Amino acid sequence: MPTNVASSGIFLDGDWVDPQGEMLQVQDPSTGDVFAEIANGTPAEIDAAVAAARRAADGAWGRMTAVERGRILRRISDLLLENVAMLAELESRDVGKPLSQAKADAEAIARYFEFYAGATDKIHGETIPYQDGYTVYTLREPHGVTAHIIPWNYPLQIIGRSVGAALAMGNAAVLKPAEEASLSSLAFTEIACEAGLPAGALNVVTGIGESAGAALASHAGVDHISFTGSVSVGRLIQASAAENVVPVTLELGGKSPQIVFDDADLDAAMPFLLRAGIQNAGQTCSAASRILIQRTIYDEVVDRLASAYDNLRIGPAPTDPDVGPLISAQQKMLVERLVKEGEGRGNQVVTKSPLNADVPANGFYVRPTLFGNVGGLDPLAQDEIFGPVQIAMPFDTEDEAVSIANGTDFGLVAGVWTRDGARQMRLAKSIRSGQIFVNNYGAGGGVELPFGGIGKSGHGREKGFEALYGFSVLKTIAAYHG
Ligand code: NAI
Ligand code: MG
Repeated sequence: MPTNVASSGIFLDGDWVDPQGEMLQVQDPSTGDVFAEIANGTPAEIDAAVAAARRAADGAWGRMTAVERGRILRRISDLLLENVAMLAELESRDVGKPLSQAKADAEAIARYFEFYAGATDKIHGETIPYQDGYTVYTLREPHGVTAHIIPWNYPLQIIGRSVGAALAMGNAAVLKPAEEASLSSLAFTEIACEAGLPAGALNVVTGIGESAGAALASHAGVDHISFTGSVSVGRLIQASAAENVVPVTLELGGKSPQIVFDDADLDAAMPFLLRAGIQNAGQTCSAASRILIQRTIYDEVVDRLASAYDNLRIGPAPTDPDVGPLISAQQKMLVERLVKEGEGRGNQVVTKSPLNADVPANGFYVRPTLFGNVGGLDPLAQDEIFGPVQIAMPFDTEDEAVSIANGTDFGLVAGVWTRDGARQMRLAKSIRSGQIFVNNYGAGGGVELPFGGIGKSGHGREKGFEALYGFSVLKTIAAYHG
């Protein structure tokens, strides 16, 4: 593990510095044990981070040619790949994420840096035909200082998609990881530094959302904010951005559906229906928490899902189970309360996966739960649960399926399972969502694919080439030369 990672969470201007504030304990979700500590960043440290980023944005980093920036990002990618095993182990322990998922995340961040490394010198402005005597062109420039407030569920991947794209455009970044899972951000920082990222291009302040996070989001020196997390904090971030009149990208999760028609290839669909619900113990913004099933095949699909639930292996993250613990005692309590309230309203519990007797007693394990026949207005069908809980909902017609799918405040991702090509096209248009998957779900996470929500799922797009537009601003130059 990189030096200092377990003892310091403040990286300013190319150096680890001694934290000014108290230290926060880091728990291993699989056991409940404390195994590390991180700094609770102070507003003064946020100030210093923003100042260091500003110097880098105005200095060598901001002036570096696109191709040189790309080479540094490529070296970061290569070093990340060399360190996949270390990063996976760290992320698995810190998040309680099954080891193979953590490995996939570590490979994904390397892939993000590879993708954005290759893009730095391929994004450019345009010339615009205009009145006689003018030459008009556009420049695509960095915002300057970008703030990245990220959650605990996929730290490595979210660093890749947001910090990676911001750096590619020549922004200088300030990263505030989630207090529950900061260690991979620190390990990433060490790697980026070793790869030759200049001082100040990336600054990291760990700490609590309400203090370090709020200080960063409201800082007048920040030119763009990228936030992934809850709707309630997203609102606060957008209010801060409004105060300073800066752009903001919000990715706030969802209540995403997978819709299964009776002409679907069920053998192909079943693993996706399950995995998209229980991956990362359901703590995934794009989790498919609602399964809409045509009534003619409803019982068959629910039976097959139920037997998959009954066979899930639930256990400590390093043993690479199907489902690990949740991130914290608090998240476990929240999910268990929402399940209990769902039961209390008379919803049908199809099955709850059994917990092995040998799961560590103090780990944050929750029994994966499948509800059936849930009505569209029930809170189970409306509210993000962020745990291993899925609901099955029957429908009769295509119109009804669309209306249920669109019947929440969210719109992040949707999956459609049908062999009917015309229906695929109709649904791809009529479902309100940032991404639609036809006869798959998630498409393997492809870093090339623009991602983001509508409605309460947020706004702005990350991933793919599209992110580079979000992390830059367009300047128009009209030169009169007669
Ligand atoms: P959260 O929204 O509080 O935390 C996300 C990030 O925001 C963390 O870095 C946190 O430190 C920071 N933050 C918290 N309060 C802040 C503030 N006032 N100002 C600036 N930054 C602040 O999410 P939390 O509490 O960890 O989880 C609660 C729920 O949010 C989950 O149950 C889930 O429904 C949703 N969530 C959605 C995620 C997604 O991927 N879209 C990720 C994490 C949580
Ligand atoms: Mg919170």
